[in-house]
Amino acid sequence: MTDLVAIARSLFAPGKGILAADESVHSATTRLAAYGIAATPEMRRQYRDLFLGAENIEQYLSGAILFEETLDQKGDDKKLFASSLSLRGIAPGIKVDLGTEPFPESAKELITSGLIGLPERLEKYKKQGSVFTKWRAVYRIDGDHLPSPQAIHENAKRLANYAKEVQAAGLVPIVETDVLIEGKHSRSRSRMVLEQVFGALFSVLAEYAVDKASVILKTAMALSGSENQKKDSPEEAAEDTLAALLGHVPRQLAGIVFLSGGQEPAQATENLAAICRLAREKGAPWPLSFSYARALQDEALALWKGKAENVPAAREAFLERLAKISAAVSP
Ligand code: 13P
Repeated sequence: MTDLVAIARSLFAPGKGILAADESVHSATTRLAAYGIAATPEMRRQYRDLFLGAENIEQYLSGAILFEETLDQKGDDKKLFASSLSLRGIAPGIKVDLGTEPFPESAKELITSGLIGLPERLEKYKKQGSVFTKWRAVYRIDGDHLPSPQAIHENAKRLANYAKEVQAAGLVPIVETDVLIEGKHSRSRSRMVLEQVFGALFSVLAEYAVDKASVILKTAMALSGSENQKKDSPEEAAEDTLAALLGHVPRQLAGIVFLSGGQEPAQATENLAAICRLAREKGAPWPLSFSYARALQDEALALWKGKAENVPAAREAFLERLAKISAAVSP
């Protein structure tokens, strides 16, 4: 039998974290378009290879989350991406939700879909080398009303159903709670929403008897909204983020990784370092690390521009950011 707890724990090797390279075709197209790159399947393959094919990433990465399309693609080394990652000691993971749809009970909110046919897809992903999975629930803050308790509860149920299916298939689940930074909200409102989201999620996970010891939480930090004038110091962000986690996340969890959520790369690095420092001071019970997409990729993409001659400079920028983010989570 697969030792899911051991796999989950191995993703928290000291100084290592997870690269989120699992943008859907739609998100990857938007991301590349911002740099004037037309997203054909071949350009998306080159985009993945820019990061997954970079030398020495295994020094900083314990895992990489892929999108379904990438599982069928090969790097410039002519090996399937998942195989070359495994060979370098980086665990391949896979995003298994199918994106969001409007929530019927509350028209302005989104709910994550993808439970129908999930067991069959999991079987296929496992055969293709995936050892862990991710499901992202998204929560938009609007005043004191949104997210609604109904949307929070429905997302919690779907996350728990997903986690249960994934463990039954012999894979590790990452449950992602992406409380968006977009909005005018205060940091304390962001913390309050995180607390509500964690409260609902861990109560439903317990109800569904999901084994917590092999579950990884991937979460946003408690931060002031992007349209709020207030700029949080790393210490402020750390204080509220950790308070929300310590109050609501069971100690048995395998660990917690953070998403970057649209923060500038330097800010995502400094906030993470402050969170890890404070967690050590407070004796937090779980290992903490990163699972960034944008904060790890943006500087490299700006240099790459889809051109082969820019690959070395872009990879150098990626490795530099990776080294700094790794230092932020190093004991
Ligand atoms: P960001 O780090 O860009 O927020 O992405 C992480 C992620 O996986 C979002 O689902």
